[in-house]
Amino acid sequence: MKNVIILGASGNVAGHVIDILVKKDDINLTLFLRNIRRLRNNGVSKPALPAGRCRIVEGDVLDYKQLKEAITGQDIVYANLSGDLEAMAKNIVKAMDETGVKKLIFISSIGIYDIPLKSVLKPYRKAADVIEASDLEYTILRPTWFTNVDEVDYEITRKGEPEIGSVISQKSLATLITKIIETPEKYIGENLGVDKPNS
Ligand SMILES: NC(=O)c1ccc[n+]([C@@H]2O[C@H](COP(=O)([O-])OP(=O)(O)OC[C@H]3O[C@@H](n4cnc5c(N)ncnc54)[C@H](OP(=O)(O)O)[C@@H]3O)[C@@H](O)[C@H]2O)c1
Repeated sequence: MKNVIILGASGNVAGHVIDILVKKDDINLTLFLRNIRRLRNNGVSKPALPAGRCRIVEGDVLDYKQLKEAITGQDIVYANLSGDLEAMAKNIVKAMDETGVKKLIFISSIGIYDIPLKSVLKPYRKAADVIEASDLEYTILRPTWFTNVDEVDYEITRKGEPEIGSVISQKSLATLITKIIETPEKYIGENLGVDKPNS
């Protein structure tokens, strides 16, 4: 069994990831979110979550004690967050270091290496910098703009390569995240652009 925690589990992309992961028998899922009532996203409804393998923890990533407690004993941390991402990334790295959890999947954004850097993207860039400076087995994802289209069609680019494509379905991004959760040794120390081919 693999212990996986989703930080920001009420988020849009997280909802799609949960939809996929709850069907896997080898995953113990912890959903960490500020308000349990906001979990009902993307068709995810609380009664549909299998009780034995899915735990819900109310907490704030900026509350270090709550975060560390939730991360303890996990194998994989998947961060689906918005807001003060630099402070969140610092808390996550510290909590993972102190609890010996190595694998982190973190959603950032397209455009974080653009010059000049758009101010809205500064938290995304700072968070990526914090994670890259860590000793974690991280995978940073830099998706293009989201669509709600019900399709799985994506390609990845490496750091330093041009970010191609302009959109990506949330379901595609969720599928990639699920694949990384299933094979965490893949994409260690990588910082990947994600887009729909020819978009
Ligand atoms: N939309 C796009 O086209 C696009 C493109 C590229 C990248 N992105 C980025 O990709 C990421 C994932 O996207 P998304 O649409 O899934 O995001 P989202 O729906 O906005 O989800 C972000 C989640 O973060 C949670 N959160 C915020 N502060 C928190 C805290 N202190 N502690 C715990 N949870 C907290 C929010 O929970 P609450 O419910 O409590 O607020 C929310 O559920 C985001 O960073 C987004 O900006 C988006």
